[in-house]
Amino acid sequence: MNGIRLCGVGKAVPSKIVSNADFAARMDTSDEWISSRTGILRRRHCGEGETISGLIAQAAREALDASGVKAEQIGACIVATATAETLVPSAACTLQKDLGLPENIPCFDLNAACTGFLFALHTMECLLNASPRKYGLVVGAENLSRVIDWSDRSTCILFGDGAGAAVVECAEGCPSISAVMGCHGSRELLYLPGAESGVHSYLSMEGTKVFKFAVEAVPWCIGQVLERTGKTVDDIDFFVFHQANARIIDLAARKFRIPPEKYYKNIAEYGNTSAASIPLVLSELSEQGRIGSGSRILAVGFGGGLTWGGCLIEFA
Ligand code: UT7
Repeated sequence: MNGIRLCGVGKAVPSKIVSNADFAARMDTSDEWISSRTGILRRRHCGEGETISGLIAQAAREALDASGVKAEQIGACIVATATAETLVPSAACTLQKDLGLPENIPCFDLNAACTGFLFALHTMECLLNASPRKYGLVVGAENLSRVIDWSDRSTCILFGDGAGAAVVECAEGCPSISAVMGCHGSRELLYLPGAESGVHSYLSMEGTKVFKFAVEAVPWCIGQVLERTGKTVDDIDFFVFHQANARIIDLAARKFRIPPEKYYKNIAEYGNTSAASIPLVLSELSEQGRIGSGSRILAVGFGGGLTWGGCLIEFA
């Protein structure tokens, strides 16, 4: 079986910026509390006329342009999301039409909450090995501002909207991404009811318990990926973490003695964008020229489900 590597990445975020001060003006919170507990300074929310489908298409087009791959060369399309605009058609089917992707390929949404993008990369690796086309499109996107409970100050300040996309190539000689992933079902710790529940869908979370889960899951994933690939921290060019809380990232970096120049946080600008957070980081790092041809990236995600995952992915 061949592995996959990144050929191009892209991103799109809404134009409406919501600052910590905006929250402090309407509820009992403060910029100091939010920034010191989470690292978040502001986040983006979809405003009038902005849709998550529009952001998905914009990010995907940017990734295609960056990769030089044409829409007709795409062999599968997965959108990782828990907040698609419509359940049917899926965001991936809508994207197929928007971009003119081939009709004879699988296009579907995948929900693994904040770990969704990594679950999607792993799924894409399997799919492309069975496809005559060797390129795949993987998007992570969320419209979390639609499902935040504005009466719950412990969650509403955390989340933002956005989309990130990657074009990947499956070719002979590509190393496997060596994905490790898992889940254990828990409704109590992080919950977003579905349409069938009859209640308005609001996201709720036992933050402190999820924090405890995350500070164990992240190092476990790093350790597993390093062990499976026979690599050390020194062999990795960049560590990319799901952006849920700056403290979770810093704890993991400290545990593995990852030098500051080898990891990145953009949570201050976007908050927690769930499935979009990892591809948003990849896209910004690429824009800044900090990752590119030949870079070896260890990515780790964790979140609702509960789910967790890690993988090693190289830039073409
Ligand atoms: O992406 C999916 C995975 N998600 C995560 O990984 C999130 C993990 N969890 C976290 O990041 C943190 O648990 C939070 C940032 C969500 C919360 O931080 P915390 O340090 O665990 O705070 P807490 O929930 O224990 O609350 C501490 C205090 C409470 O007051 P009392 O009971 O001590 O008087 C809260 O009521 O802070 C209060 N509080 C707030 N105060 C001001 C909660 N939210 C706020 C707020 N502003 N927005």
